[in-house]
Amino acid sequence: MSKQFDVIVIGGGPGGYIAAIRAAQLGQNVACVDEWKNSQGGPALGGTCTNVGCIPSKALLQSSEHYEQASHHFADHGITVKGLSMDVAKMVARKDTVVKQNNDGIQYLFKKNKVSFFHGRGSFVKASADGYEIKVTGATEETIVGRHIIVATGSNARALPGTPFDEELILSNDGALRINAAPKKLGLIGAGVIGLEMGSVWRRLGTDVTILEGLPTLLGVVDEQIAKEAKKAFDKQGLKIELGVNVGEIKTSKKGVTVAYTSAKGETKTLEVDKLIVSIGRSPNTIGLNVEAVGLKLDERGAIVVDADCKTNLPGVWAVGDVVRGPMLAHKAEEEGVAVAERIAGQHGHVNFQTIPWVIYTSPEIAWVGRTEQQLKADGVAYKAGTFPFLANGRARALGDTTGMVKMLADAKTDEILGVHIVGPMASELIAECVMAMEFRASSEDIARICHAHPSLSESTKEAALAVDKRTLNF
Ligand code: FAD
Ligand code: NAI
Repeated sequence: MSKQFDVIVIGGGPGGYIAAIRAAQLGQNVACVDEWKNSQGGPALGGTCTNVGCIPSKALLQSSEHYEQASHHFADHGITVKGLSMDVAKMVARKDTVVKQNNDGIQYLFKKNKVSFFHGRGSFVKASADGYEIKVTGATEETIVGRHIIVATGSNARALPGTPFDEELILSNDGALRINAAPKKLGLIGAGVIGLEMGSVWRRLGTDVTILEGLPTLLGVVDEQIAKEAKKAFDKQGLKIELGVNVGEIKTSKKGVTVAYTSAKGETKTLEVDKLIVSIGRSPNTIGLNVEAVGLKLDERGAIVVDADCKTNLPGVWAVGDVVRGPMLAHKAEEEGVAVAERIAGQHGHVNFQTIPWVIYTSPEIAWVGRTEQQLKADGVAYKAGTFPFLANGRARALGDTTGMVKMLADAKTDEILGVHIVGPMASELIAECVMAMEFRASSEDIARICHAHPSLSESTKEAALAVDKRTLNF
């Protein structure tokens, strides 16, 4: 007889593995099926995020930032480095170690929480009286039955039409994170989150980087003032970004890759590079799930259709993370996973989609929560804005990193914080206070009245809040 579970989670990325752990904490008998393989063919839990996304990209961003600091900024602190060199293969090996620590950590958490793990691909067979039959194929071959199914199968990189990824010359995020010697020339298509983060890694390591972006403006989803400030910083660093281009034919040869494109001014141009990363967005992944067997509904993009509670069209089948609507972010996937596990257990799981933070880990970092100034205008909301530059912050001066600002937007009448946008040092950490403030529906005055440690970058958040009321103290 097939093994029977209360909950079967298909996919062991941040949406799936967190859902599995939370469901197990709540007393459910839980299985998680994940097919990711490490280089030896063994399991590698953690999905895109751990294996070819958040974690490895941040490891390489950190290594390359250390090199950048040693090459260009230590001298300002009176530190001279003689004979500085880099070993990209070692950076990549370190990144692999960090990934493995995370893979192993999740396996440990599964054991600790008594989640049964099945290594292989999970697909729907049929609905039965006991729930849904899921066939596992791959390293494990078994059919299991679950009363509830949580689909968390994530997303895949989109390729340009007619230019499939070969992961040698034309790279997705997977190949991009496995380059193990700095190319002389690197091209990227798409100046979105991956384009800017991966472009930054290789620019810092001495590669001549060009990013071709189809839209006429950089970072269209980011508050305009913040995006402009970031663009200025990227230009100064020598990260070449061409906006408003139309990418044409892409050819590969022994020498590398040639990209034909039309510039924003209509000129016909070619870009010759050693390797090309294509980072033009991601598509939901339902390949091999056999959704037809049970009639699970997908939308026109191939995403699983869910309501605000992550319920699909089938009773007892839920879906979370990149495979459903909403931002493709690990923490959004995790929050949905927790909420679904709680709903299955009869609790009131909740995700506040208005307070999901975004972080782009470039230098300077870009982070935001809530609405931009442009969105508030479009929504007809009367607002007050306060900005504070890191140039006027003592800690930023001591760090030697004064690029950027904190910008706070608050309701003109109630003073409730509606959005906070940061470009500058440690924006990724500073945004957490702002998320909490918005979650508690704080006013800008609340932040302005809270004692912030001195000297700290977080004083800039307080000063931006004071600026909303036109009473900054240090600027
Ligand atoms: P995934 O992490 O994609 O996991 C899905 C899992 O399901 C995979 O292990 C897959 O093998 C498995 N699977 C799929 N189909 C089946 C099947 N039929 N049977 C069994 N297993 C299956 N987000 C951030 O918040 N911060 C960042 O810094 C960040 N950096 C990123 C950098 C890069 C380069 C990329 C590509 C993405 C980054 N993201 C980041 C996005 C983040 O990785 C995703 O939002 C997140 O991984 C989504 O989680 P998920 O659980 O929905 O899916
Ligand atoms: P993206 O959506 O961030 O950016 C894609 C860019 O490519 C856009 O600017 C788009 O205009 C451009 N583009 C699309 N088609 C094009 C074409 N044919 N020619 C030229 N430009 C084109 O997608 P990206 O960078 O692939 O990342 C995917 C997702 O992964 C992100 O949206 C994000 O959800 C997640 N991610 C999150 C990170 C983080 O949180 N720090 C880091 C990396 C990825």
